[in-house]
Amino acid sequence: MKKKIFSGVQPTGNLHLGNYLGAIKNFVSLNNDDKNECIFCVVDLHAITVSQDPAILRENIRETVATFIASGIDPKKSIIFNQSQVSAHSEAAWILSCIARMGWLNRMTQFKEKAGKDKEKASVGLYSYPILMASDILLYDSTHVPVGNDQKQHLELCRDIAQKFNNDFKVEDFFKIPEPLIQKEFSRIMSLKDGSKKMSKSELSDLSRINLTDEEDQIMNKIKKAKTDSLPIPSNVKELNSRPEARNLIGIYSSLTNSTLENALGNFSGKNFSEFKENLSEILIDKITPISNDIKKLLKDKSYLDKTLEDGCEKANKIASKKVKKIHDIIGF
Ligand code: TYM
Repeated sequence: MKKKIFSGVQPTGNLHLGNYLGAIKNFVSLNNDDKNECIFCVVDLHAITVSQDPAILRENIRETVATFIASGIDPKKSIIFNQSQVSAHSEAAWILSCIARMGWLNRMTQFKEKAGKDKEKASVGLYSYPILMASDILLYDSTHVPVGNDQKQHLELCRDIAQKFNNDFKVEDFFKIPEPLIQKEFSRIMSLKDGSKKMSKSELSDLSRINLTDEEDQIMNKIKKAKTDSLPIPSNVKELNSRPEARNLIGIYSSLTNSTLENALGNFSGKNFSEFKENLSEILIDKITPISNDIKKLLKDKSYLDKTLEDGCEKANKIASKKVKKIHDIIGF
């Protein structure tokens, strides 16, 4: 049976190494397997849960498509589209918000983190955002959803919503219950400045992340300045796990070289960080610079990027509108 893969990325600029190693790298390998049907969505409706400048948002949507393609996703072998252009997403989100329970949403840790101290001032969209995410996934009968570790709780909510809908309306199997695909050993890339915080596009300091559009010298400088501790590199994973910044850098190395943390440690244990950092910079430059150059090249061809989205939207719309029609029938509209 074909796997139906669905995932989304917000077009909020500064796509970074966390997005790449946590999600996009996995999109590429899933897309390379002809047994899979892949849909990759630029989730612009999710982006407006916090305020956006319209002109910048428009450019960021294109940049996200460019990043998908530059990273190795083939638009001929997948559907790439933006969420706002397929109205079924907004419609299903409303219907599913009548299925999801307040108690379920109140548990979402990402809302608590993003809303910060002043929850009263957060948009309602930021709160109900995981329901829109569930709609994205369920409209396409997705079987597998590749994401970073931070999206795990949202995926569990999506499964709960699907199950409740199927039970409430006695339509067993109408919504497929999707499986998350999360990297096993190292699924959360942390800030280069603080090993306890996720690498994120909203972090003020650009030194905290490697952007996928960074140039060679920026990558070298950021790795040189990345926080470490004063001890040499440990020999075992147990010790590594107690040293967050060291774990993050070794984890990034292991993910880029497709090796285990243990193997990565084997190459460097007992050495100091300066030698390791030189190696890590080289590997990062080898991986990121071609992507960065391709993004810049693709961004010059706006009509190609717009056409890619237009074609993708047409295909996505066909699938999603059929599913919404069935939802209407089930509900009694
Ligand atoms: P977003 O745009 O914040 O991030 C896109 C993807 O990158 C992963 N990611 C990370 N992985 C590891 N370490 C990090 N530091 C890191 N930062 C980001 C995220 O886990 C994600 O996979 N709600 C989603 C987008 C979305 C979606 C969907 C995903 C909307 N609808 C349907 C899957 C299916 C989000 O805001 O991702």
